[in-house]
Amino acid sequence: MTSFAARAPVPAHADEPGLHSSASIPRHVAIIMDGNGRWAKARRLPRVAGHRQGVEAVRRITRAAREQGIEALTLYAFSSENWRRPEEEIGDLMGLLRHFLKNEIKELTREGVRLRILGNYRALKADLVELIDDAVARTATNTGPILAIALNYGAQAELVAAARRLAEKVAAGMPVSAIDEAAIDRELDTDGLPPLDLMIRTSGEQRLSNFLLWQAAYAELLFVDTLWPDFDGECLAQAIAAYGQRQRRFGGL
Ligand code: FPP
Repeated sequence: MTSFAARAPVPAHADEPGLHSSASIPRHVAIIMDGNGRWAKARRLPRVAGHRQGVEAVRRITRAAREQGIEALTLYAFSSENWRRPEEEIGDLMGLLRHFLKNEIKELTREGVRLRILGNYRALKADLVELIDDAVARTATNTGPILAIALNYGAQAELVAAARRLAEKVAAGMPVSAIDEAAIDRELDTDGLPPLDLMIRTSGEQRLSNFLLWQAAYAELLFVDTLWPDFDGECLAQAIAAYGQRQRRFGGL
């Protein structure tokens, strides 16, 4: 039985960035960046102002994750359901993404970060697809941590696509018995990333919202009240400390 104490959040003062043993550092952290709109509303600002601050948080957390020794950071930037938002907001988000890709690539390269994209990003505007392909290619030989950005991503669609590819392989002669967990892993957008250890959602919502459903099978889940634009290196350090307190059993005792 898991004791309450083992699951209790760690007080802010209990952790200092950089003081973890490597065993307690999650290799792969995913974040559902939520709360940009509420951040803006609380300040009587337009929603785009919250998204702008959200991009600042992306910059901060990418750097902090690298400093804390995280191997892969996956950020949910645009879900396949986000197309339901007003056209103006979608345009704002795409504009911020365009700006990020144009301006951050040098910094990412300097930090040795490899950029990966999850999701059907090819459905975005042609200039964005070009920018993305260019940024991914330019960082592909970097040897540092991976920054994976989920764009037009939905886990169910990702699994459907994987199932179709496997069905095609079976039709082409692959034995059905070759379909196992590893075979499915290889068909997912996250192929080659370390196993997901920690999934964080900001802003107090407690849902996975179609994000990394397969990959989260044994991930630790952490829901924090902080709104994404306020999430900083200290918040990440606290999340890592909370993760370090969890007892991971992967179904064993
Ligand atoms: C959720 O907040 C946030 C999003 C749907 C978009 C996240 C996007 C960014 C942080 C900026 C773009 C990222 C990159 C990598 C350039 P919400 O708008 O749903 O907030 P609310 O629930 O408070 O309304």
